[in-house]
Amino acid sequence: MKKISLTGIKPTGELHIGNYFGAIRPALELASSYDARYFIADYHALNTIKNPKELSSLIRGVAAGWLAAGLDPEKVIFYRQSSIPETFELSTQIAAFTPKGLMNRAHAYKAAVRENSEKGNDPDAGINMGLYTYPVLMAADIILFDSDVVPVGSDQVQHIEMAQDIAQAVNYNYKQEVLKIPQAMIQQNAAVVPGLDGRKMSKSYGNTIPLFSPEKQLRKLIMRIVTNSQPLEEPKDPEQSQIYLLYKLFATAEEQASLAARYRAGGMGWGEAKEELFRAANRELSPLRERYEAIMADPAGLDRILAEGAAKARPIAAATVKRFRKASGIDL
Ligand code: ADP
Ligand code: TRP
Repeated sequence: MKKISLTGIKPTGELHIGNYFGAIRPALELASSYDARYFIADYHALNTIKNPKELSSLIRGVAAGWLAAGLDPEKVIFYRQSSIPETFELSTQIAAFTPKGLMNRAHAYKAAVRENSEKGNDPDAGINMGLYTYPVLMAADIILFDSDVVPVGSDQVQHIEMAQDIAQAVNYNYKQEVLKIPQAMIQQNAAVVPGLDGRKMSKSYGNTIPLFSPEKQLRKLIMRIVTNSQPLEEPKDPEQSQIYLLYKLFATAEEQASLAARYRAGGMGWGEAKEELFRAANRELSPLRERYEAIMADPAGLDRILAEGAAKARPIAAATVKRFRKASGIDL
């Protein structure tokens, strides 16, 4: 029996190449050795996206993104969180085993409180209960599908530890293994992709290259990458240049070595380095973009794929909720 892997992305923005190299691609590689499950964490996105049109289009965009990146819905289970009502039952069940103090310690909540106090606002200004109880819903997402491993970035490790604590509290109370204890799987070799300004690429910094940018926009964004004022003749250290760091994601080993040599030799300007990056990025991203556009052009087909995924997922979810109901005495 294969172990189960599960991961989700919340549709709060357009996918960017940081998401692709840091999360989507490594997670998809697990499909060959795990019984893999992927989902769109749409109710997580509701905490921040209150415009209905925007939310719908982000949900479709992220779903199409997974498929364009190579997710095979015949081989894995692929669904929307909102199609699995058992998520919300399990969430209520485990909330009874979640100390309030645990939520107070969650990084995202603490950061929001800190930001409020720095601004002199009420500590809970703008913080909804969805954000506060985010770790409970995420624990439900994970535990519901008997996940053994959860591939995530290091920022999500605390959430997985909370899911472990909560599942353990349930099992301890009922003196049986009602829920499986998940493990985080950190993508060690997944690069932190730099953004246009050199900081980590993130939609919160507005420094992203959207994964499915049309060719023209891709070129424009790459030309906008911030560089220093080193003159053309001067030899340059490739590893200090975010153009080169991005290039490495797209180029073959020989191409990388050759561009690195040109950096070190001097005589190559940033504009030329950007052209090379654009060529390599466009070569890799063009087929992805075409698949993405084809999927987005057929929303009914996309919805069908997601509905089929939900039909595969629900019996698994129902079994977990049922185990809890039996163990807890809710089922008479
Ligand atoms: P953002 O920072 O743009 O809001 P999310 O927090 O929604 O992105 O990230 C979704 C997934 O993509 C997470 O697993 C995260 O670790 C990964 N990720 C996001 N940005 C990067 C990046 N610059 N480099 C590597 N991985 C990233
Ligand atoms: N919290 C994750 C993020 O911000 C998204 C997410 C929600 C998730 N539920 C999950 C990831 C379950 C893995 C497993 O990126």
